[in-house]
Amino acid sequence: MNRKHTTNSTTVVNDRRVLVESDTKSTLLTYLRNSLRLTGTKAGCATGNCGACTVLIDGAAVQSCQISLHALDKNNVQTIEHIVKTPLGNRIATALTQHDAAQCGYCLPGIVVSTYAAMLSTESPDPMQALQRNLCRCGSHSRILSALEEVMQATDA
Ligand code: FES
Ligand code: FES
Repeated sequence: MNRKHTTNSTTVVNDRRVLVESDTKSTLLTYLRNSLRLTGTKAGCATGNCGACTVLIDGAAVQSCQISLHALDKNNVQTIEHIVKTPLGNRIATALTQHDAAQCGYCLPGIVVSTYAAMLSTESPDPMQALQRNLCRCGSHSRILSALEEVMQATDA
């Protein structure tokens, strides 16, 4: 008989403690979207190349499609649903809207999360560096970078 090997752990997702039951194949991305219904985190390439699935784990931006659910234990996960409600996350999202940065908008949750992490982790964030691991398939990079430059400069002031 083909048995699934499952383990249980607890972790915190958007300030809520959750019991995570994982098998060896599940990823954090599928868990967030399918079990917790946090569908703001997008599923793109599933190979770690587009950044659509970016979330924070313990303050660091990571690609959730590359994180085995098995590896999580007592971590602090924050998704776009939480980040966009913070003052900084809201400023980033608003700047992107004001610059008409989106075409389809699919890349934007990951871009907001990566930018938020960059702005919290360094005093002189750089938009190009912040988005090293995020792709916009619609080719809106120049408007996205303008929006992020503006929000980063405003935060410097
Ligand atoms: S879906 Fe995770 S990097 Fe593309
Ligand atoms: S606006 Fe469509 S992928 Fe970026």
